[in-house]
Amino acid sequence: MTSASLPETSSLTHLARLRWSAATAAFQIEGARTADGRGRSIWDDFVDMPGRVRDGSTAEPGPDSYHRSPEDVALLHGLGVDRYRFSVSWTRVLPDASGHSNPKGIAYYDRLVDQLLAADITPFPTLYHWDLPVHLEEQGGWLNRDTAERFAEYAEIIAEALGDRVAHWYTINEPVSTSLQGYAIGELAPARTMLFDSLPTVHHQLLAHGLAAQRLRTHGATHVGIVNNHTAVVPASLSENDQTAAYIYDLIHNRLFADPVLLGEYPDLAALGVELPVRSGDLDIISAHNDFYGVNFYNPTRIGASGGPVPFEILPIPDAPHTGFGPLWPIVPEGLTAFLIDAKERYGVHLPPVIIGENGASFPEPDHADGMIDDRDRIHYLRGHIEAVAEAIAAGVDIEEYTVWSLLDNFEWAEGFTQRFGLVHVDSETSARTPKASYDWYRALIAEARA
Ligand code: NOJ
Repeated sequence: MTSASLPETSSLTHLARLRWSAATAAFQIEGARTADGRGRSIWDDFVDMPGRVRDGSTAEPGPDSYHRSPEDVALLHGLGVDRYRFSVSWTRVLPDASGHSNPKGIAYYDRLVDQLLAADITPFPTLYHWDLPVHLEEQGGWLNRDTAERFAEYAEIIAEALGDRVAHWYTINEPVSTSLQGYAIGELAPARTMLFDSLPTVHHQLLAHGLAAQRLRTHGATHVGIVNNHTAVVPASLSENDQTAAYIYDLIHNRLFADPVLLGEYPDLAALGVELPVRSGDLDIISAHNDFYGVNFYNPTRIGASGGPVPFEILPIPDAPHTGFGPLWPIVPEGLTAFLIDAKERYGVHLPPVIIGENGASFPEPDHADGMIDDRDRIHYLRGHIEAVAEAIAAGVDIEEYTVWSLLDNFEWAEGFTQRFGLVHVDSETSARTPKASYDWYRALIAEARA
């Protein structure tokens, strides 16, 4: 590994104060879906529906981190990260409608936290990474305001268990994906196809974030925030129709999730003809205090007008290289700088320090590693995006942390094990872990940025 493949020294200077992390999520890495009293989530239902998951896989065994967390922690320690972003499975903690918590499920996270602290890594859990208990979905799931209250109760239980050692928490991961891909078009669990009728799920998830944040703070949390998926929106042309379509996409993908959290108000949704079920006081709860603002970023999005029930269409960016997901996941690192600078301009003093909660790429890689995976495409992607972060810092955006998605190859939702994002290759049958070239590169980058 030569330092020539690291970002330029001028970029590294801007990165000197950044915290470094890698991320995973419970359903994507834990396996062990029926172990120790874990209850069912909407993702257990989803993987059991024939034809829903591309390779027919069920998330097991995959990395099997429920049984192998010491290996994960050793890999994190080897990388030299400051923090580890993982998620807690709601149904390991509260398996069913009885409201009784599950000591064995909680004990897994208790051990993981201790293992991380022993390795000098700050645990940074996410409370909700898409695995809603099925009994709540049966009551309407995120369409039902009551789910926000149930989420706050769950937050309290896990904070009681871990709050003596954990002060950093993400509440909800990518509510946009749950609302738009889960409830609007059905690509993700709970596989509903309600189009714009799904939008109450936005408000209830944001309310859940605000209610949970209150509970976490009473248990000593000092770093609490939501993590939204964001994109830089690029209109396909200067035509009025394409500009309007891009405006709507930015509205429902970016502003609908950022404005209420950062400004305490929803953007004007008149263009959609939709009203959200907001009650008095809700927006104060949602926007109460943000210690940081979490941004997941993968690619910019080119939008053109469409005559269908959804008034926009996502288009490839001509001539841009793309990841293993195909042309709709173009690789344009400048899009990240543009998004961050726009966010600073849009939200001004209301934007707290930004945490890049996820950034990474999948590329076609063999199912079985033979010694080493030379994933130079991933290194190229990561280097470009980390330089993009450095550019945004140079332009005055306050950025606290950068997180790679993902530490491990894992269960990529409806794509099953067909999309590999890891710094570490995982054999989805044997669960064997093999660090890729990008793992060594990220380790060298962290060391160099700190030097
Ligand atoms: C965002 C999600 O939070 C994560 O679970 C997923 O694997 C990555 N995007 C890649 O699609």
